Amino acid sequence: MLTRLNHVAIAVPDLVAASAVYRDMLGASVTEPQALPEHGVTVVFIELGNTKIELLEPLGDKSTIASFLDKNPSGGMHHLCYEVADILAARDRLIKAGARVLGDGQPKIGAHGKPVLFLHPKDFCGTLVELEQT
Ligand code: CO
Repeated sequence: MLTRLNHVAIAVPDLVAASAVYRDMLGASVTEPQALPEHGVTVVFIELGNTKIELLEPLGDKSTIASFLDKNPSGGMHHLCYEVADILAARDRLIKAGARVLGDGQPKIGAHGKPVLFLHPKDFCGTLVELEQT
C-alpha cells in the first residue's frame, strides 16, 4: 500500500529562522513560505534528491501544532508522509484493520494540492503518519 516517503515534517517555532538554518548552514534549497489556513500551518519545503523536509510553523490560534510546540519549544520531528496510490482505498483498509484516522476521516487537500489524511500516532509506533495520494 505504501510506496515512497514523500516528506519528513519538522515543527518549528520560527519558520524564517529554521529556513535560514537549512538554506545558509546546510546549503539546501528552501521554497517560499506557503500558508495553509485549513491545516493551521505555514510551510516551506526543502527539496532533497530522494525526499523532502517540510518545516511547519503554527498559523492562527487553533493550530494543530501549537500543543506540540508547547511540549517541544525548540521544535521537533512532527510527522512522516507516505505516498499511496488510492487514499480512499488505503483509508478503508486501515479502518478495517482497526487504525484511527484523524478528523472526520475525509481527505483534505495538502500542501502539494493532493488529498491527504492523518493517522493516529498511537496506532503507528508513536509516529503521526500522513498519507498523500500521488
Ligand atoms: Co506533511
